[in-house]
Amino acid sequence: MKRTVTCGALTKSDAGKTVTLNGWVNRKRDHGGISFVNLRDRYGTTQVVVDADAPDSLKAIANELKSEFCVAIEGTVRARPDSMVNPDMATGQIEVVASNIAVLTKCEVLPFQIDEESDAKEELRLKYRYLDLRSGGMQKRIKLRNDVAFAVREHMIGQGFYEIETPTFIKSTPEGARDYLVPSRLYPGKFYALPQSPQLYKQILMVSGFDKYFQIARCYRDEDARGDRQPEFTQIDIEMSFVSREDVLSMIEGLMGHVFRKTLGVELPPTFRRLSYDEALELYGSDKPDLRFGMEMRDFGPYVERSTFQAFKDALATGAAEQAASAAKGVTVQGGGVKALVVPGKADYSRKQIEELEAAARIYRAKGMAWMKVAQGADGKPALEGGASKFFADNAAEVISGLGAKVGDLILLVADAKRRTANIALGAVRSKLGRDLGFCDPKRFEFAWIIDFPMFEYNEDEAKWDTAHHMFTWPQEQYHATLESDPGSVKGDLYDLVLNGFELASGSIRIHDPALQKRIFKIVGFDEAEGEKKFGFLTEAFKYGAPPHGGIAPGLDRLVMLMAGETSIKEVIAFPKNSFAVSPMDDCPNEVDQKQLDELHLSIRYPEKKQD
Ligand code: AMO
Repeated sequence: MKRTVTCGALTKSDAGKTVTLNGWVNRKRDHGGISFVNLRDRYGTTQVVVDADAPDSLKAIANELKSEFCVAIEGTVRARPDSMVNPDMATGQIEVVASNIAVLTKCEVLPFQIDEESDAKEELRLKYRYLDLRSGGMQKRIKLRNDVAFAVREHMIGQGFYEIETPTFIKSTPEGARDYLVPSRLYPGKFYALPQSPQLYKQILMVSGFDKYFQIARCYRDEDARGDRQPEFTQIDIEMSFVSREDVLSMIEGLMGHVFRKTLGVELPPTFRRLSYDEALELYGSDKPDLRFGMEMRDFGPYVERSTFQAFKDALATGAAEQAASAAKGVTVQGGGVKALVVPGKADYSRKQIEELEAAARIYRAKGMAWMKVAQGADGKPALEGGASKFFADNAAEVISGLGAKVGDLILLVADAKRRTANIALGAVRSKLGRDLGFCDPKRFEFAWIIDFPMFEYNEDEAKWDTAHHMFTWPQEQYHATLESDPGSVKGDLYDLVLNGFELASGSIRIHDPALQKRIFKIVGFDEAEGEKKFGFLTEAFKYGAPPHGGIAPGLDRLVMLMAGETSIKEVIAFPKNSFAVSPMDDCPNEVDQKQLDELHLSIRYPEKKQD
């Protein structure tokens, strides 16, 4: 009873054929002595019928069938009468009249129903992932992931890239997140680390002359899981030699174009919009803006002086004072800022709705959010009303026309002594509005490049500079002379690809000059000996004719998640971890035998239990 066809193959032209199907019982219905069994495999479903005049022995087996029994069915293909054709089913024109049924394996009572999309709790879905993966939605998404990975390889290899594997037991190096460590049995007290990315190896491959490298690579990071983050995930890791930023960006535009065309039949624009990091923050309050909708933020600073809004004036004055104090110490920082968002046609928002938006701003450290509504004034002209409008009595007309606001619009305002805080907090409000107002169509794909990132970030806690991406990023040429004297102004040759409000990829042109690398190490407070100890093998390799090079790494999980219209990467990973980095199916991480620990020369020091 081995299958001769799959459950997604049969059409009207097969009528009369004898076939054998293997699969799972999706649904069973009984109608006046006739049994209808929907048999499912990964190719589709086929309706199997046990007719009223079937032998009793066959009817008895049909009677016993339950959901998710794995069965083999032999029968004859019969065209359905026109009135019974199911246009929603690929095999909707036919049914198979069973002549023989064998139960291959039975199925216990299911912990949840296997539907197109499961509505079971996530923990249960992950515990019984093998069942969850049978659902139509998961089957489609796993197929999409397969198709995307294939299209990536097809394109990259077609463009002359080599796929080269790099090790997953590597030296622990500081890369941003915490490393997962693997203890060495042979060398007591020594550890391998699992790679956070193949970054250093791909750069070394450039030194070796493999000038177009890619790898669909597993990466491991011990950081808190969230919707778009998993402790282990996959990157489409890419590195190229003798390239400028433009070469990398256009290569990725080509790759994305190919992948979307091949797998979704979606035609992307040949080039993606570009925004500088500063612009992205000013307009959208995010370095990963969702560009499926406009609602750009405006600078409200110019309207504050003529107003009587003391809180806003104070924020700007404090910001200016902090900026002057930092400048005296040789540190460039932004001053204060007041930002405005005009929400078209939402003057009817209730106080409660506005408070919910304010809560989103507060999460990002806003001290509050002011609002005003644009109404029709007594003179028939637009006028400010409610909330903070009383402070703008003298310059209301200027505010309304300056912001381009119309009658019926809602104006939201955030001020802060740190302009960045005002931007990010109001940006969070913009994102929430985008979701609330249904602007985030999952079938639209709005890509953009964010470029000209700052090279360094000031670490206020430690009063020192850190690199914003990683230490191998090339500072843009025009800043080389002032790296040490004004790190806050330096832009790196860094770029992020964003899609629908997510960071999809990150990359940079790298430093290939050991002398410049040493200067960067010094600025971030790495002394030479420390740099040598941690990255010595890379700096050593660069002494032997390193080519100029650059690269990028799109996250495969995030890409497939967005293509599938999902908001969690767990939906596109066969066996993900839950939010606590645990796999409920196999219950890992788990304790190991004392013998294993002894072999690894490890003893466990459990954290002390907190006293109540
Ligand atoms: P970065 O750390 O920005 O850069 O990562 C690149 C991309 O990988 C994806 N990503 C993740 N996906 C799921 N779970 C995670 N925990 C996770 N972390 C990152 C994102 C992200 O944009 N070596 C550099 C790249 C380079 O410079 O070439 C790197 O790893 O989509």
